[in-house]
Amino acid sequence: MASFRASFLFLSLTTLTVAAVVSGHNITDILAGFPEYSQFNSFLSQTKLADEINSRQTITVLVLNNGAFSSLTSGHPLSVVKKALSLHILLDYYDGDKLHKISNGTTLTTTLYQTTGNAPGNLGFVNITDLKGGKVGFGSAAPGSKLDSSYTKSVKQIPYNISVLEISAPIIAPGLLTAPPPSADVNITALIEKAGGKTFASLLVSSGVIKTYEKAVENGLTIFAPSDEAFKARGVPDLNKLTNAEVVSLLLYHAAGKYLPVGALKTSKDPISTLATNGAGKYEFSTTTAGDAVTLHTGVDSSRVASTVLDSTPLAIFTVDSVLLPTELFGKSPSPSPAPAPEPVSSPTPAPALAPKAKSPAPAAASPSAPIAGTPAGSPAETPSAAADHGAQEKAAGVHVEVSAVLAVLLVVISSIVLS
Ligand SMILES: *[C@@H]1O[C@H](CO)[C@@H](O)[C@H](O)[C@H]1NC(C)=O
Ligand SMILES: *[C@@H]1O[C@H](CO)[C@@H](O)[C@H](O)[C@H]1NC(C)=O
Ligand SMILES: *[C@@H]1O[C@H](CO)[C@@H](O)[C@H](O)[C@H]1NC(C)=O
Ligand SMILES: *[C@@H]1O[C@H](CO)[C@@H](O)[C@H](O)[C@H]1NC(C)=O
Ligand SMILES: *[C@@H]1O[C@H](CO)[C@@H](O)[C@H](O)[C@H]1NC(C)=O
Repeated sequence: MASFRASFLFLSLTTLTVAAVVSGHNITDILAGFPEYSQFNSFLSQTKLADEINSRQTITVLVLNNGAFSSLTSGHPLSVVKKALSLHILLDYYDGDKLHKISNGTTLTTTLYQTTGNAPGNLGFVNITDLKGGKVGFGSAAPGSKLDSSYTKSVKQIPYNISVLEISAPIIAPGLLTAPPPSADVNITALIEKAGGKTFASLLVSSGVIKTYEKAVENGLTIFAPSDEAFKARGVPDLNKLTNAEVVSLLLYHAAGKYLPVGALKTSKDPISTLATNGAGKYEFSTTTAGDAVTLHTGVDSSRVASTVLDSTPLAIFTVDSVLLPTELFGKSPSPSPAPAPEPVSSPTPAPALAPKAKSPAPAAASPSAPIAGTPAGSPAETPSAAADHGAQEKAAGVHVEVSAVLAVLLVVISSIVLS
């Protein structure tokens, strides 16, 4: 009995520890053991979908072997391959058993493509149907689509976090492969204006920095556009008092010369350099994550990433709640009073997929070289939110409940051991 209790205690402790480490899976690592999926794996990394997969719990990846996958990649730009691949990432857990137990024999399941905002109607859903003779068919949920892909075998399961299943042929939503690559002729300022960033957009144009942005797109660019409200907030330095060179640096600081969709921001552990980074100044910022919310820390202030305006390889555009103030310009200078607690004014643009205002780690106002994001220095009280990192809002709540339940069980077990 005692040993039963002891092992139960051990189990509970293990659960608690693992829950604190967030989702431990690494799809790149999982697929590395299977050369037949090397192409699929390589494109998951190139499109940064691997980060997105690793940052989520309860996920199923439908992989294609190199032969079947080649039809998706040949002649298509990376942005199109990314969309196609996102349709093979199901936001639910399916293993071979569950595929054969679908109630009523057919279901529509949500994919990662649906979360991009680029999938009108049913395009972001996949139809899974238990066909006669034990065969399970997959197809786009768009009306009139055929179920011309089928389940071939299970590759790897870590219940109920990630499942990797092989299917016979790509799942293709109507129009997906023929869509023109969007970022070639995207109007950056128009998009930012429309998302509530008129001030930022006009500064980009008047300073000429927009040209630098446009040139950078080709090699990957991520823009963090402050909202109009952000420029009116207290503590924002008077731009008229800055030199032209300082304004340019400030604007360049609001973009990274890499494609960093939200999944990449969440998993980024190193400071992120910006277009302002040069020999004379680091001009970096770090990130922290709480639930689905990502916060950027410059060392002077912090800003929540409010919404995704565009996510289309190689260009990502986000709105942020605050003007990002680099330490190189505002760190030591006495002039602008650094806003102490930049938990931002609530955003006027409703931000999709944001966690309930979680305790974001204290901004690094005091220490410019604050510890870097990703793993907010964890007091035990913080672990539930760290564990919740990767779920959707509702999941975040679920994990909180789960962890406190485990704690409660632990207490009961400990006291019963002590009593016996
Ligand atoms: C799955 O993820 C949850 C939450 O992060 C964790 O508690 C659990 O141990 C993981 N399971 C495995 C087998 O890794
Ligand atoms: C996942 O695994 C790959 C290959 O083993 C490794 O290069 C990468 O750093 C890992 N990613 C994370 C987030 O640990
Ligand atoms: C199964 O089909 C029946 C009758 O068509 C329907 O009433 C029921 O809601 C379906 N169940 C599920 C889980 O879709
Ligand atoms: C899935 O597709 C099949 C074949 O087109 C169709 O009969 C079925 O109703 C679809 N399932 C759902 C849930 O829409
Ligand atoms: C982009 O949009 C802005 C206004 O939103 C407009 O003034 C500008 O001419 C557009 N640029 C191009 C190249 O179409």
